[in-house]
Amino acid sequence: MLNPFDIVIFGGGGDLALRKLLPAMYRAYQEGNLPEGSRILPTVREESKQQEYVETAQQALKSFLGDGEFNNRDWKAFSQYLVPVVINVTEADNHWDELRAILQQDAEDKSRVFYLSLPPAVYGTCCEILSKKKLITATSRVVVEKPIGYCGESAEEINGKIAQYFSEEQIFRIDHYLGKETVQNLMALRFSNALFENLWDAKSIDNIQISISETVGLESRAGFYDKAGALRDMVQNHLLQLLCLVAMESPHKLNANSIRAEKLKVLEALRPLVDEQVDDNIVRGQYVPGELGGKMVPGYLEELGEGSSKTETYVAIRANIDNWRWAGVPFYLRTGKRMKKRCAEIVVEYKRVSHNVYDESVGPIQPNRLVIRLQPEETIQLTLMSKRMDNLNMELQPVTLNIELSQQYGSSFHSDAYKRLMLDAAANNPALFIHRDEVRQAWQWIDPIIERWQTKGAPALYRAGSWGPEDADELLQENNHAWFNVGEQA
Ligand code: BG6
Repeated sequence: MLNPFDIVIFGGGGDLALRKLLPAMYRAYQEGNLPEGSRILPTVREESKQQEYVETAQQALKSFLGDGEFNNRDWKAFSQYLVPVVINVTEADNHWDELRAILQQDAEDKSRVFYLSLPPAVYGTCCEILSKKKLITATSRVVVEKPIGYCGESAEEINGKIAQYFSEEQIFRIDHYLGKETVQNLMALRFSNALFENLWDAKSIDNIQISISETVGLESRAGFYDKAGALRDMVQNHLLQLLCLVAMESPHKLNANSIRAEKLKVLEALRPLVDEQVDDNIVRGQYVPGELGGKMVPGYLEELGEGSSKTETYVAIRANIDNWRWAGVPFYLRTGKRMKKRCAEIVVEYKRVSHNVYDESVGPIQPNRLVIRLQPEETIQLTLMSKRMDNLNMELQPVTLNIELSQQYGSSFHSDAYKRLMLDAAANNPALFIHRDEVRQAWQWIDPIIERWQTKGAPALYRAGSWGPEDADELLQENNHAWFNVGEQA
């Protein structure tokens, strides 16, 4: 069991804190994973907000927890952990001394987590004040959210500022996809099954698709999203991290240093896409009004309330990893908002058998396909060819082995990426967090794409409720491939 810890949530009244971080801590409490003597210290800017905070937190839990998760008995006990404090993160005033006094009520070696649920532009100032006010102890850690920066240079600047006050071992950069149980299961599948270990390279695999489609649109994040776009919001972090886990070599041990070293090698081996290669291998899109889930939804520009914006809400990429394992295997990465279905999945398409012993009358032999669905359902499907069993003729047909992981477990366990990652930060376990070198390397691959887009072309339009622009279908057709769209396979 974890030792008691203090977690200070800067930006405690913000969307992330109320939507994700508090529910995560409440679930940890319900499962018996929030040690007694721990404290959750959300910061707010004004005293009035501090007085209202417990009420605000209760409302947030009621709105953002799943059905049946909230109950008054657990809430009463959980609320005892909450210690709201007033802080203005950019002003080194007396409030910080009050925060230090609260933290110093407990032993010096108690684990302290500073969670910066703040815009990256103020990370540096906040860390500087933490240091100036002597709040950083040997057992302190800082958690920062993605995306770090808007390009390689700004990310380096932000990382550099944080590094003035915290050592790399104390910095926990979150990518919440790494906290998803299903994403960790990817490693379990790959590294504990000989079946996959031996069939996981260019000799056996034809192509791999990694796709995160969302049905939500801009939500209330216009200010952030229109500056970021899908490339920075999803590709630079979530998609590239998934790519790393799919493509990396086996780490010699499952510890943070070995995993991060292997992920970094994948990022280093990603073939750069520059100038015309960006146009040839990447499709960016933006949604226009369309029908989604039986009703009409507005387009991106309508949601934004502006006449023009070149921000992409969709990206599809054909990428290559230049190493022995993956030579010649295209990796198709795709993400988009307002798409037909919400789904995150990895589709591994195997090569065809090397010699077909059947004649045409048995029907076509389809390649084997492994589909690892991360959400909304957590399933693993393997499609194999089999003889039809309902007649005497020799006819082949694809059959699918289907494992529904969620059915294996009781309903009391709530897989919650933030819960997992916050507890890991408190336990000083960095395995599922991102190293500075990974951030640097990921931006190095992304920067030339951003540069190209700044001067060339515009997003292709796609209807809300569709699977994205036609150009993205054509991108795969060039290699005789097709997107695997959930629910639309034969
Ligand atoms: C966030 C992005 O990191 O991930 C959002 O900023 C996106 O734009 C979200 O909607 C998707 O996360 P999940 O866990 O709902 O797939």
